Amino acid sequence: MSPVMTTARKPNAEQVAEAKEIADRHGLQFLPRGNRSLDSLIIEYGSVLVFSYRGLSCYTNKGELFFHPNMAAVRIRMLRKGGKDKLLNICGLAPGDSFLDCTAGLCSDSLVAKYQVGERGRVLALEQSLPIYLVMAHGLQNARPPRFQELAKGIELVCRDFRDILPQLPPSSFDVVYFDPMFAVPVMEASSLIPLRPLAQDQPLTPEDIHLAARVAKKKVVLKERVFYDFSQLGLTRAGGDGRKTAYGVLSLKEDEVED
Ligand SMILES: C[S@@+](CC[C@H](N)C(=O)[O-])C[C@H]1O[C@@H](n2cnc3c(N)ncnc32)[C@H](O)[C@@H]1O
Repeated sequence: MSPVMTTARKPNAEQVAEAKEIADRHGLQFLPRGNRSLDSLIIEYGSVLVFSYRGLSCYTNKGELFFHPNMAAVRIRMLRKGGKDKLLNICGLAPGDSFLDCTAGLCSDSLVAKYQVGERGRVLALEQSLPIYLVMAHGLQNARPPRFQELAKGIELVCRDFRDILPQLPPSSFDVVYFDPMFAVPVMEASSLIPLRPLAQDQPLTPEDIHLAARVAKKKVVLKERVFYDFSQLGLTRAGGDGRKTAYGVLSLKEDEVED
């Protein structure tokens, strides 16, 4: 079911106009909010996009999905202080590289990748779910503080299924192709993903997906999965020492060093 678009109660004219404009652009129904409670809208429509002074959020019975770059901000702060980031090390990303994020989600990994590849580098992030895409696209365009805004605006976020896009991309056109799909067994502590889950595409990855990605990647295909995941079923090698909850699988397309 498509989400319905509305505003907060007592919106100003600008908020109504912007909510209508987003709804029109994406073929969504715009519903004047009036005095209706969010709960009743969720019961009727399943998911409700709300445009307000706080930005664009999507509500379901699992809560509010909104853009919050906190996780990325913590990782970037660590990197600025000279720390290391596990994903960056496993991907071997360098300034000027290109990174294709096939599963954008909250865009935390894309933001960290963009920080690393810098202005000369490219991050293209694909998100199949329209409500997730809309919330994140609006968040990236309106991110704060200004230093973070530049980074966020540097990410090219597109609402498409990676299974449609990968076959259209030229061979070896991205240094790294990355997947972080919805886990079949969720990490319970990953609370930021709870409101994302009911809106997310959760089809598992197949060997054909890795094959499509390997054509497009110059250096590596990287997959994040649960620590007990059997990466060999997709022809990937477990890389870089495991965390407690998650691990990475890699297909290296050229000799490259993996730091840990
Ligand atoms: C676990 S989240 C990714 C989190 C992300 N790495 C981050 O840092 O926030 C997975 C996301 O991938 C999206 N997704 C799953 N399959 C997809 C597909 N075939 N094409 C594009 N997006 C997909 C889901 O809708 C979900 O938003």
